[in-house]
Amino acid sequence: MKIELDDCPKVIDEKNLYGFSWMEHVMAIPSPLVVVTSYKSNGCPNATMQSWCTFTGEEGYFCIFSSVYKAGHMYKTLKDTNQCVVNFPSKDIFLKCMETVKNNGFDDEITLSGLTALKASKVNAPIINECFLNLECELAWEKDLSENGSHAVMCLKIVNVWMDESCYPGLHSICR
Ligand SMILES: Cc1cc2nc3c(=O)[nH]c(=O)nc-3n(C[C@H](O)[C@H](O)[C@H](O)COP(=O)(O)O)c2cc1C
Repeated sequence: MKIELDDCPKVIDEKNLYGFSWMEHVMAIPSPLVVVTSYKSNGCPNATMQSWCTFTGEEGYFCIFSSVYKAGHMYKTLKDTNQCVVNFPSKDIFLKCMETVKNNGFDDEITLSGLTALKASKVNAPIINECFLNLECELAWEKDLSENGSHAVMCLKIVNVWMDESCYPGLHSICR
């Protein structure tokens, strides 16, 4: 049996969803959780947890963030520098990555959260060394998600990647 929904179920209080759609809560559609890193205007590393993203390719390979808060540091630093790194955490460093939300000031959020910031090689942004996959990216385009909203869709072109060999068995042999 399938259940059809076109309105918020009565058990959910829409006023307490912090602006998120009831559909998101009810359907729980999975997407990867990543940490986006960039440099703030004072040169310190910034880190932002992002849960709404997808990946696709045509004339390159792209990461599309579907809901970036426009008053946050990620949006501002990407507009300033045009560059960032998309880092994939494994379960063992998840809590440290969550610390970046608390350490959301103007200092080095990566080091303050117990992680290691390295310089990326092709873009002007930091890499989180402990993450098993790091995508160096350049901003391709952005568009407001809705007419009067506070979030933007941002498309990033992936220009260089770092992959931890221990998570990709056989990688070494195909890259020689
Ligand atoms: C698990 C998780 C997922 C998140 N996903 C998003 C997201 O997709 N888009 C967004 O704008 N903020 C998201 N946030 C909120 C930001 O990570 C958070 O507000 C952060 O402090 C903003 O940092 P910034 O000001 O350095 O960009 C998420 C937070 C958590 C904990």
